[in-house]
Amino acid sequence: MPNFWQQINKPILALAPMAGITDSAFRQLCRLYGADVVYSEMTSADGLFFEGKKTLEMLKFEKAEQPLVVQLFGKDPAKFGEAARIVEKSGAGGIDINFGCPARKVVGHGGGVTLIRDLNLCYQLIKQTIDNTKLPVSVKVRTSIKSKIGKKVTVIDFLKKMADLPISAVMIHGRSYEQGFSGEIDYQMIKEAGKYFKGTILANGGVNSPEDAKELLKKTKADGLGLARGTYGRPWLFQQIKDYLKTGKFEEPSWPEKKQIILKHAQLALKTKGEHGLIELRKHLLWYVKGLPNASDLRTELVRVESIKDIEKILAEIHG
Ligand SMILES: Cc1cc2nc3c(=O)[nH]c(=O)nc-3n(C[C@H](O)[C@H](O)[C@H](O)COP(=O)(O)O)c2cc1C
Repeated sequence: MPNFWQQINKPILALAPMAGITDSAFRQLCRLYGADVVYSEMTSADGLFFEGKKTLEMLKFEKAEQPLVVQLFGKDPAKFGEAARIVEKSGAGGIDINFGCPARKVVGHGGGVTLIRDLNLCYQLIKQTIDNTKLPVSVKVRTSIKSKIGKKVTVIDFLKKMADLPISAVMIHGRSYEQGFSGEIDYQMIKEAGKYFKGTILANGGVNSPEDAKELLKKTKADGLGLARGTYGRPWLFQQIKDYLKTGKFEEPSWPEKKQIILKHAQLALKTKGEHGLIELRKHLLWYVKGLPNASDLRTELVRVESIKDIEKILAEIHG
């Protein structure tokens, strides 16, 4: 697949990578409802290098998901070269490198966001990836992290260091490492990044409505957005944002429509992961019914579903 980033109309709406959430079923659903690009869950470069069965399974996807970006995490440049070759062979559309994850499991091994404290190592990780694939390579970063002696390393420092590498896109989570997953988005820092990076810039963080999307685009001047938690139980948010940016209006799907989407999600989960897929789907089901007057009763039933029939039965109780 050629460099797809340049071929998508702006603003580009991407499903941001989320471990445990952005599996093949959810990605297919988001593509159906307006996502232009979808990112995989973070995938271990070491796991691919050692051909771990579970890690290799994460590379399974359907054509309908394309352009699909597989996100890698790790900290050993040599493994990224081999991992890049494996991802390319899988037929994915692009490779992303995780420089933003604060999860203890990842950071504890010096991966994710803490990599930014060593920009030479970041450079090597990206270079090894780019040198071993024809796929477009992108990165995901936060706005900043404090070094061990308290000095801030920012996304601007990062981009300056990587200036001679042909990175296709950068998704910037507008929060620092220290902020975690809440708090103000640093619009200015994302906007500033545009001066130092000529590829595609996606702004990420806090987009929970079409209005949020419009504001983030306006304040950052980014080429597009990465949507994460805002899509929980609302894969149609992408289409709503597109409608709102175009016409100033958007619609909420009716409950009969939502039921069809939920069943579609369940069928995709079953098809891609078997019965276990329905167990993993339970969290999504809880998000879909959030806000309904009888949500707490529905939740008690939804956390027990084991089959499509179970889901159909519970959905029949909703008369929204
Ligand atoms: C459950 C969960 C899993 C995540 N997994 C990843 C991941 O695998 N890779 C990554 O780069 N970011 C990951 N993130 C971060 C999101 O991509 C995004 O940057 C963050 O949630 C901020 O966006 P939001 O405010 O729209 O949710 C994850 C976030 C959540 C909530």
